[in-house]
Amino acid sequence: HDPAIGIHDLSFATTELVLPHTVLAAHNGTDIGKYHRGIGQRSMSVPAADEDIVTMGATAAAPVVARHGTDGIRTVILATESSVDQAKSAGVYVHSLLGLPSATRVVELKQACYGGTAALQFAIGLVRRDPAQRVLVVASDISKYELDSPGEATQGAAAVAMLVGADPALVRIEEPSGVFTADVMDFWRPNYRDTALVDGQESIGAYLLAVEGSWKDYTERGGRTLDEFAAFCYHQPFTRMAHKAHRHLLNHCGYDVDEDRITRDLALTTAYNNVIGNSYTASVYLALAALLDQADDLTGRAIGFLSYGSGSVAEFFAGGVVPGYREHLRTKAHREAIDRRRPVGHARYRELHGHSFPADGGDHRTPAETTGPYRLAALRGHQRVYESLQ
Ligand code: CAA
Repeated sequence: HDPAIGIHDLSFATTELVLPHTVLAAHNGTDIGKYHRGIGQRSMSVPAADEDIVTMGATAAAPVVARHGTDGIRTVILATESSVDQAKSAGVYVHSLLGLPSATRVVELKQACYGGTAALQFAIGLVRRDPAQRVLVVASDISKYELDSPGEATQGAAAVAMLVGADPALVRIEEPSGVFTADVMDFWRPNYRDTALVDGQESIGAYLLAVEGSWKDYTERGGRTLDEFAAFCYHQPFTRMAHKAHRHLLNHCGYDVDEDRITRDLALTTAYNNVIGNSYTASVYLALAALLDQADDLTGRAIGFLSYGSGSVAEFFAGGVVPGYREHLRTKAHREAIDRRRPVGHARYRELHGHSFPADGGDHRTPAETTGPYRLAALRGHQRVYESLQ
């Protein structure tokens, strides 16, 4: 008999600073209704100069390690599309900051926003091979578009850490999965750029096509029917995208779509993404955190997951909520991670947006802005220097 495998613990972290959309709208003359209702975003997390995907990833994972110890963790998979190095995995820095044992394999994965789901599915495969081991999955990203571009309002940053193992305390991940790949240029970031290139309308169309494709594969492989799901966690580049995607799926399946049904299926999943912004690989798991943290009781219910990564790859899969899951949630810490952020002025936000280390490899210290447990202190001799403040 195969053990159930899935998410045993889930914790997220975001940045020190936050920019409300009211401030952005006041500066660029946009009607705030476009941000609040049109794209469904209220604020976005902004990394301070001494924060990056490593500090966020370690901050998200530290409470998981504190609760469960390092025993059994033999693999760390870090998923990101905001990589800080073309060779060394950001996961190695996270492994070091967390003090994980040397008998660990560490790797970084990339396929746009889909990478976190690839990490989760690969982790399940590893646990199936050796059910005694646990895999630490970290999805950490900073969404960055050019200033004054349509994408600017959909920036954000966060990291999610998930401990994947047998007999999970939160969510069992089910078979089958429905998968879909199409070679499209909807969103990409060449190595010489630190902001993404995007064709906004093309990207929405590519996402909807991927919803259809992954759902088709899911049903052909004997998956659940739509009515069996208590809620749906979608990748949320902006929260209205989840509405668009769900309406599209319901229409595609021949349902008469009313707003009430969409609200019932999605409403609880958008609360964190709405104030954090796009966190790429972490986004769909922030939706899960928001759902579990706020829902009355989902014991025994099925949740649908739609993970989309531009370029494009998508996966539809189901999770079953485990009895007793509420005792293992981190609702208070999650709310604190959001509430502790300090508002950043518009001028400083633009300054931080342009911040990057020069390629001269000299000694560049970063201003101490974050009060989080880890910070990026400097770049010295082309090496990133991290500090643990614990
Ligand atoms: N009050 C209320 N609503 C308003 C409004 C107002 N005053 N003004 C406009 N709106 C509505 C519009 O009607 C529109 O709604 P619909 O989509 O339902 O028609 C919505 O606000 C957005 O308006 P526009 O389409 O005119 O906005 P835009 O062209 O400036 O940009 C965007 C929107 C394309 C999403 C842009 O923000 C963008 O390029 N974002 C980055 C790319 C992205 O997130 N793509 C999503 C799919 S790709 C993906 O998922 C991977 C990933 O993470 C990037």
